[in-house]
Amino acid sequence: MAQKTDNQRTAIEAYNENAMAYRSPYERWKEAEGLPTIRGLSVPSLIDVELTQWASRGGSGVFVNLMGTDGFNDTYICEIPPGKSLNPIKHIYEETVFIIKGRGATSVWLDGGEKQTFEWGERSYFAMPPNANYQHHNGSGTEPARYVAMTAAPRVIDTFKSLEFVFNNPFVFEDRFDGKAGYFTQADAPNANGGWTTNFIADVDTSSKIADVKGGNEGRGAGSIGTGFNMVNSTVRSHASSWPVGTYKKAHRHGPGIHIVLLRGEGYSLMWKEGEDVQKVPWKPGTMFVPPEMWFHQHFNTGAEPCLFLAIGWGSEKPKAGGGAYVYKSVKEGGDQIEYEDEDPQIHKDFEAAVAASGAECGMGGIHPFCSFNP
Ligand SMILES: [Fe+2]
Ligand SMILES: [Zn+2]
Repeated sequence: MAQKTDNQRTAIEAYNENAMAYRSPYERWKEAEGLPTIRGLSVPSLIDVELTQWASRGGSGVFVNLMGTDGFNDTYICEIPPGKSLNPIKHIYEETVFIIKGRGATSVWLDGGEKQTFEWGERSYFAMPPNANYQHHNGSGTEPARYVAMTAAPRVIDTFKSLEFVFNNPFVFEDRFDGKAGYFTQADAPNANGGWTTNFIADVDTSSKIADVKGGNEGRGAGSIGTGFNMVNSTVRSHASSWPVGTYKKAHRHGPGIHIVLLRGEGYSLMWKEGEDVQKVPWKPGTMFVPPEMWFHQHFNTGAEPCLFLAIGWGSEKPKAGGGAYVYKSVKEGGDQIEYEDEDPQIHKDFEAAVAASGAECGMGGIHPFCSFNP
C-alpha cells in the first residue's frame, strides 16, 4: 500500500495555502489575537508543542486548524503560568476543555450571578456552557497547567462576523446553564446506556474504565470498549475508546471535525480518501489528529499496553442524513465500515511487522482472516 506520495503532499500543501489565502472573519480574529495556527494532518505532541505569549488571555497558546475540520470546528492549546489565572472570558460558541497537564480550578458565572468554582487535574474533561463567564486558575505555584480546547469558533465567528456579538452578548442560554451550585459535580455513575451525562469528568481514563461499556463499541472489532460524554446539554459528540495490545479496529468513515487525542498507548492510524493514497499518522500519548470528512481511518495499537483516546467534536453524521446508522455497517451493505475480511491484505502484514518490532505479538488470531496466528 502506497505511503505519502508527492501528489498527496501537494494536496495537503494546497489545502493549507487555500485556507490561508482566504482570510475569513475567524482567520482575522486569530491574527488579531497574535497567535500562530498549526495546520496539517496532526499535532505530534500537545504536551510539548511550542506556545506563544497570548496577551488577551494572560497565558500562552497556539491555534490548531487541522485538515478535515474545514471550518467546522477548531482547537487551541493554552498554558496557564504557575501561580496565575487567565483573564475571564465569555463567548456564545461552545467549548470543551481537556487538561493535558497540571492542576487548577475554573470559576464559572452568569452576568450578575454567583460564581461557582470547581477543581481539575490531569485528564479532567469539561465543557464551558455557551456564553457563561469563566476563568481558569493554575493551582500550582511552580508548574504550568496546559489544556486543549475544542470550539465552534470558526463556524460562529464566520457566521456572525461580529466579535462584539460573539464575545460580548447578553443572551443567556437557559437550557444549558442556569448558574445553580453543583453544576460541575461529576455524576455518580454512567447513564443506562453506559455513557456519562455530566458536566465534569475528573479523569477520562478512570471514567472510561468505570462505565459498563462492553458492547458499546463492539461493532468496531478487536474487543474495543468505549464510553460517551454528554456535557452541558450539548450537541458536541465526545467519546473515549480503548482497545487491547496487538489489535486494531476496523476502518470506517464519517463527517469532519472529530479531534482524536491519544491518552495512552503507541501506534499509528491510516487515513485515506477512497481511491487515493494512504496517509500514516504515527501517535503516542499527546498526539492529536482529525480524520478528514469521509476519509476512511483505522487505528492500530502496536505498543505494549492498551490504547486509550478521547474523541471530541461535532459533525460525524454530517455527510449523510442519519449518518450514525452507517458507521458500523459494512460498505458492502451501503455502510461506511470496512470489515476485516475486505481489507487490503497489506494492512495486516504491515501491522504484524510493526507489532513485532515493538516486541509484542499480533493478538488478532481468531478474529482476523489474514492473521498469521490463526489456529
Ligand atoms: Fe472515526
Ligand atoms: Zn495478525
